[in-house]
Amino acid sequence: MASLAGSRPWIGDFMIQQRVADIMNPSADRLAQINAQYRSAARETLAQALAGCESPAGVFSKMKGMFPSDVVLLENGQALKCENYSCSPAPEYHPELHALDYEWYFTTRTAHELSGEYGSRNGVTICLGAPKVAIAAIHQSRSVVLVDKNPCLLNRFPELGRSEEVHLMDAIDSGRLRLRADAVIFDAPWYLTDTMGWLFAASQLVRAGGSIIFALYPSLVRPSALLERELILDIASTIGSLEVHQEALVYETPLFEQEVLYGSGLPCMAEWRRGDLVCVTASKPLASLPPGLLYRPSIDGAWRSFVIGEQVVKVRKRLLRLRHSEQREDLLAPVGTSFLLDSVSVRAPQREIVDVWTSRNRAARSSNTSLVSLLLRRLARGESLPHAIGPYVSRIPGDFGDQLCELLAMGG
Ligand SMILES: C[S@@+](CC[C@H](N)C(=O)[O-])C[C@H]1O[C@@H](n2cnc3c(N)ncnc32)[C@H](O)[C@@H]1O
Repeated sequence: MASLAGSRPWIGDFMIQQRVADIMNPSADRLAQINAQYRSAARETLAQALAGCESPAGVFSKMKGMFPSDVVLLENGQALKCENYSCSPAPEYHPELHALDYEWYFTTRTAHELSGEYGSRNGVTICLGAPKVAIAAIHQSRSVVLVDKNPCLLNRFPELGRSEEVHLMDAIDSGRLRLRADAVIFDAPWYLTDTMGWLFAASQLVRAGGSIIFALYPSLVRPSALLERELILDIASTIGSLEVHQEALVYETPLFEQEVLYGSGLPCMAEWRRGDLVCVTASKPLASLPPGLLYRPSIDGAWRSFVIGEQVVKVRKRLLRLRHSEQREDLLAPVGTSFLLDSVSVRAPQREIVDVWTSRNRAARSSNTSLVSLLLRRLARGESLPHAIGPYVSRIPGDFGDQLCELLAMGG
């Protein structure tokens, strides 16, 4: 595990604002330059990975977060698109994990190592959006507080009842809690805005001399990731001294991502995703949230969640009225050639038009999200499909039952 530490340049608010703008709204020339640098770094990393890895599957975990189907495209499908990778089923969670909750979990081993090595032995550890670390800490009899916005966690992990406190809230707001911990461990969605916002909150929640431990996404996750990482590390270094442990974090591949990999012709590759671990010894909190950032709800929109069997189904909170009677036919419509979404990335253009999205990565547009929500609510209460849709037959298309079965991947 490589460790990088060192002094970083002083950065003021104006400089941060300029760097955020350079990442979020680059000029056309600058964007072309960022993309060219990314392609060249990706090719170099691929050459090193191909030379150094014994198995094709090992190559993906050395690609610094580049998505496997993009690696195959880059490599032109010569050595990597083979059918013989070891294939293990996705770990099961009840209810299932959802891409819109950014539920990429650490392996159990990584979670235990994090809690064992960085959790406080005698004081309190706050886990921000790190439920598996909180569970590991509970199993190690450590005192832990969990902050996470997802109420599904309470069913998924009944052991959370043994934590000191659970706060179901947005991590960005958690700096306001009257808590000061010896250690704060966080794993935000892998974007600049989330990581900066959570870092700000963590700096308010840790006592002076305590540690902030967080996951940092690798440099090939997207073209601007390298610039984002540099900015995050520069800002983190204003809180205290830093250490970076490269590729120390190993993630499970969630079911929704395995579905994408299968859909793009790649069998599951077990645990290909790696993150870097950053440790900050805190001396002073950040004075304010970095300016110029768009926060998650304004990017993702607002969604309702339904738990149907083991599946989590999300419906966009958007009131669309039926304008023409024939729109009834579009009560559920695929966004591509089928209900299977071919990406979970925030940058994927089809994500904008998705109205219904399942934890098995099936998605649809809908002409009437209120009616779909009503029907899903009945299914979530345990009603059978015919019973749930019975009262609404005049408002739904004839093949709606079949479409819903396909969307919920209930075909067998
Ligand atoms: C990237 S996952 C990290 C999980 C971590 N790797 C683990 O194994 O413990 C993000 C976690 O943050 C939670 N989450 C996502 N957005 C959040 C937000 N805005 N505020 C609080 N929690 C959030 C999700 O429910 C999920 O538990």
